[in-house]
Amino acid sequence: LRCYVDDKVSRVAWLNRSNIIFAGSDKWSLDPRVDLVSKGQLEYSLRIQKVDVFDEGSYTCSIQTKQQAKTSQVYLIVQVPASIYKVSEDMIVNEGSNVTLTCFANGRPEPAISWRLLNPSADPLDGDEYLDITGIMRNQAGRYECKASNDVAMPDVKYVNVVVNYPPTIKKTHSSVTQVGGMGTLQCQATAIPVPEFEWYRDEKRLSNSQSINIQILGTTTILMIANVTDEDYGNYTCVASNRLGVQNASLFLYSECPFRSSSPALVSWAGPGMGRDINGSSCVSASLWLLLSCIAGLLLQC
Ligand SMILES: *[C@@H]1O[C@H](CO)[C@@H](O)[C@H](O)[C@H]1NC(C)=O
Ligand SMILES: *[C@@H]1O[C@H](CO)[C@@H](O)[C@H](O)[C@H]1NC(C)=O
Ligand SMILES: *[C@@H]1O[C@H](CO)[C@@H](O)[C@H](O)[C@H]1NC(C)=O
Ligand SMILES: *[C@@H]1O[C@H](CO)[C@@H](O)[C@H](O)[C@H]1NC(C)=O
Ligand SMILES: *[C@@H]1O[C@H](CO)[C@@H](O)[C@H](O)[C@H]1NC(C)=O
Ligand SMILES: *[C@@H]1O[C@H](CO)[C@@H](O)[C@H](O)[C@H]1NC(C)=O
Repeated sequence: LRCYVDDKVSRVAWLNRSNIIFAGSDKWSLDPRVDLVSKGQLEYSLRIQKVDVFDEGSYTCSIQTKQQAKTSQVYLIVQVPASIYKVSEDMIVNEGSNVTLTCFANGRPEPAISWRLLNPSADPLDGDEYLDITGIMRNQAGRYECKASNDVAMPDVKYVNVVVNYPPTIKKTHSSVTQVGGMGTLQCQATAIPVPEFEWYRDEKRLSNSQSINIQILGTTTILMIANVTDEDYGNYTCVASNRLGVQNASLFLYSECPFRSSSPALVSWAGPGMGRDINGSSCVSASLWLLLSCIAGLLLQC
């Protein structure tokens, strides 16, 4: 804090609010951070090291000449960079619950708090120290960024990871057409958090790994492989996906390739509900119909 004097001055002092820090060159303050800077007789400046917020306030350089007393006042404003001192812990919540994320920061001037969900759009969210999310949805899961800024220095940033649990939805199933003696492969894919557990059923009977059956689970997908398919293997299978929030099941079919003569019954029964059975009691799809269906599916997917 600068203060300049001339040679007519007889007495000088520095005050912090109304407390004397220096009277002439006598130090009254006990604060070791404070000292005088004087160049020759003409400067009587005050130096404060390691300034903190408590130093904010008015300082007075008081000058007395033979004729009069003069004061020169300086108001010291202390700025402090924004700093986040408390933020929500990472959390795991169920879809639909109400969530409040918190972020507290100090700094001078008072920092502004803003939130973003770090997904590709990362749009700013409407919140301050509290970010309220009513009925959180699965697409609101992710890494939340809290930013505190007050233009004194770089903003301070902290993160909260939010995991949203939801029950399984079977997204995709893949039935299979296989000849007797071939390998039948049924596939079932579900989305769920936590990762779903899978079970396979043939009618009411739970299937497990055996000589002819191999069940694989790769994250959110399960594959049922039936080696050396026999006539009894054709028909309806159920894939069940579950986690602690719920369960969903889906029906899949192991079809046989129809001999030519039964291709029209298959065509007829395809139009009916579910998959029909041919004269021998096993479901089938003619190879040509299957190809046609795959083509249509391929075209639809490209759209
Ligand atoms: C100024 O006064 C305030 C309040 O008494 C005190 O907290 C602060 O440390 C003082 N600062 C200096 C530089 O003397
Ligand atoms: C979530 O908040 C909404 C609106 O504030 C309220 O109607 C609802 O009951 C809350 N749900 C739960 C599970 O607390
Ligand atoms: C397949 O099996 C499931 C479960 O047993 C049953 O709900 C479903 O109706 C069956 N589908 C057909 C087409 O038979
Ligand atoms: C498939 O099953 C038939 C009849 O059960 C058997 O004769 C044949 O050896 C099996 N083939 C393979 C590759 O396991
Ligand atoms: C499939 O779901 C239905 C209805 O949710 C249920 O009644 C049936 O038992 C389930 N099937 C299996 C094999 O879990
Ligand atoms: C299907 O049934 C016909 C007679 O109805 C029989 O000739 C044929 O061998 C059977 N095919 C199979 C695969 O069982």
